[in-house]
Amino acid sequence: MRRFFSVKDIGNLELALKEAQQVKASPFGDQDLGRNRTAIFIFFNSSLRTRLSSQKAALNLGMNAIVLNVNGDSWKLETEMGVVMDGDKPEHLREAIPVIGSYCDIIGVRSFAGLKDRDFDYAETILEQFCQYSGKPVVSLESATVHPCQAFADLITIDEYWKKRCNELAAAGKTVKKRPKVVLTWAPHPRALPQAVPNSFAQWMLAADVDFVITQPEGYELCEDFTKGAAIEYDQKKAFEGADFIYAKNWSSYTNYGQVLSMDRAWTVDEDKMAVTDNAFFMHCLPVRRNMIVSDAVIDAPTSIVIPEAANRVVSAQVVLRRMLRSLSGENAPLYHV
Ligand code: CP
Repeated sequence: MRRFFSVKDIGNLELALKEAQQVKASPFGDQDLGRNRTAIFIFFNSSLRTRLSSQKAALNLGMNAIVLNVNGDSWKLETEMGVVMDGDKPEHLREAIPVIGSYCDIIGVRSFAGLKDRDFDYAETILEQFCQYSGKPVVSLESATVHPCQAFADLITIDEYWKKRCNELAAAGKTVKKRPKVVLTWAPHPRALPQAVPNSFAQWMLAADVDFVITQPEGYELCEDFTKGAAIEYDQKKAFEGADFIYAKNWSSYTNYGQVLSMDRAWTVDEDKMAVTDNAFFMHCLPVRRNMIVSDAVIDAPTSIVIPEAANRVVSAQVVLRRMLRSLSGENAPLYHV
């Protein structure tokens, strides 16, 4: 594996989920794989989960893990080509990337959308430069348009909790649905946020064995490259009916690029709306603004699985790094495929 941006990069999802469970059961089982290998994780933006889970995953695999906070620890980096560098950024990515590449075996990059120039963001201009100039495998740690480590962790979490729910229902002699209904709902937020998390969540859910619905106010339609095939429902409560998983997230408009069109708290996920679901689990990638995105009662309920969801970020990162390490060692087949 040379890059991890898209659901396509992980291949067969059933096998990836199986591998995730085996990594989870034996987190230190591949310490030899990472010995004398180094991962550098570059952060252009703030992070709690991604930073710590990536480092933890690398350490579990026996790797050295280095984190660089661009603009904090390092020189400020110019990202645009052809500019006269007479401002406050003394180094260009064009030199910084190959230098970083010379110090490591795998690179992870967090670089949010600027939300000003849609073409620049949707071309993944910064991440693609890392692929082109580093000569090393590259993982998106949330880039302009995608957050694949989050979406993979979300899928692992849905798979685990759906299996548990099915077992409980079967043990109680109740009807078990063939597939879970998963709803991605827009929710209000005071600032303009990128579309990376909902884009990736939609892409991964459409590839998974679930019934997938997106609910959002008019004007918040996501890029069709990620949502083609999803059911769209503009009535949030109707979308929630019979749902097994509610995934809340804010995003700014794709059509009126980067704009906040609404802060309507009628879209906050609350107990009243959760009551029409099929006792749905509540999910959010975190950080979450309480009583904007979700009410205290919903996020504090036993059906809220935001913490195990975040814990699974180590597992998703570890599967990805493990596959990259195996590719670097010339072992292309993932170990756990049986
Ligand atoms: N969910 C997520 O990516 O969290 P951080 O921004 O804290 O890394």
